[in-house]
Order: sequence, then structure tokens, then C-alpha cells
Amino acid sequence: MKIIIVNDARDVGVKAAELVVKEVIKKKNLVLGLATGGTVIPFYRSLVGLVKNKKIDFSYIRSFNLDEYVGLNKKDKRSFYYFMNKNFFSKVSIWMRNVYFLNGMAKNLDVECKEYEEGINNIGGIDLQILGIGRDGHIGFNEPGSSLKSKTREVLLSDITRKDNVKFFSGEIKKVPKRALTMGISTIFGAKKIILLACGEGKAEIVHRFLHGEISEEVPASFLRRHKDFIVILDKEAASELKN
Ligand code: GLP
Repeated sequence: MKIIIVNDARDVGVKAAELVVKEVIKKKNLVLGLATGGTVIPFYRSLVGLVKNKKIDFSYIRSFNLDEYVGLNKKDKRSFYYFMNKNFFSKVSIWMRNVYFLNGMAKNLDVECKEYEEGINNIGGIDLQILGIGRDGHIGFNEPGSSLKSKTREVLLSDITRKDNVKFFSGEIKKVPKRALTMGISTIFGAKKIILLACGEGKAEIVHRFLHGEISEEVPASFLRRHKDFIVILDKEAASELKN
């Protein structure tokens, strides 16, 4: 595990984008695992900038997003698909046929999840997974209690997660979906390389817990400490409890 501490949220994004570009230069058809959330907005901004300035060819990239809300369609501004399209897909020359996304509107959600998991396996697994972290230690939407063996599935969101995401639902908690589809911990853990980003004071406590506490289902991100190629990029605020 490697921990990189930079100045602020913007620099977290820049550092992560540089690492992604390095991997894409090594492997043109890299399989990327992508995340949503406030933390990754500067990351996508930097990545788009680097791809344009350095003329990096993104046309062979394949991508799988981590998660999606149940009951929101792609065109819904609050869906993760919409977020990704706005912040990334529409800004780089990625082929949309190589973009894989969980469909939270699928008739049979179990089949949807099973096929997504198979899709990842059939493509040869994820090369590089980008992650944020929830204040309760979740990754993707794997809430506390998620097993290391968990695969892509439907989950219930915790109160803390719904509250944290209310900012994307015009502040109305009632509108935040209660259920989501997410890659499992084992799906995420199967990635060859994992980069987790965290920014801001609000993440300082969980960053300390997942890096120094017990490795357990109570803090799903803690499992990642056992991964052989795991990089954590933090800003000074998110890293502020690490010295204690
Ligand atoms: C959501 C996503 C997670 C993400 C988390 C953090 O819950 N499902 O993948 O890590 O938000 O969000 P933020 O970066 O806004 O704190």
C-alpha cells in the first residue's frame, strides 16, 4: 500500500489523473473502474485536461462504473450515469459501446447484476479501479457489513450515505433512493490496481479508521489494505488524523 498526501482536493485529482494516464500509455485498451461523487470531480477535470493536452488516445479504453441508484434512469440528472456523462464521457473520445453501466431500471435486478459481474470477468477483469470513500467506510455502495466475498448486487443504503448524497437531490432526503446496485467488495478487490481518493476534513476520521483500525466488514474500505497494488491519495485535511 502506498499513501500519497498532497495539498488540496484539486491536487488529489491531478495526481490520480497522472497515474491513470501512465497506465493508459502502457495499455491502450485499459479497463477502468470508475467512481462518482464530489471527490472525483477534480479528478475527471484533470483527466480530461491531460487527455486533451497530451493527446492521449482514449478511444480503446473500456470502463465499468461502480454503482447506480435503483429507480433512476440514465437521463435523470441525479443518476450516476448522468454524472459520468457530464463530467467525463462527453468530454473524451471514448467509444460509448465500451462504457458499461449498471442499469438501476432493469426489470430483473439480480440478472442485471449477474450479467455485469460476468461482463467484467469476460473482459479479463478491471485493470485500474478508482474509488472514493463514504464517511461510513463504504466503497462503491458496499456499506458496513458487506462481506469480502460480495459480488455485484442490490443493496440498501445507510442513513449516513443517503444524508451525504442529499446534496445531489436538492437537499430533500425523501428523494434520495434507498436502494442501489453496486459492484461487490470481491469485484473491486479483483482489480489489478486500485486508487482510492479522499478529500476534506469530513473524511479525516474514516481515513484514519480504514488505514489504522481493524480490517473488518464494519469498515469495508479496510479490506483494501490487503490488496497488492493499492494507492491512497489524500489531501492534507483528509490526512489530518493520521499523525495521531
Ligand atoms: C457515493 C458513491 C461512492 C463515493 C461516495 C463518496 O456514495 N457511491 O462511490 O465514494 O459517494 O462521495 P463524495 O466524494 O461526494 O464524498
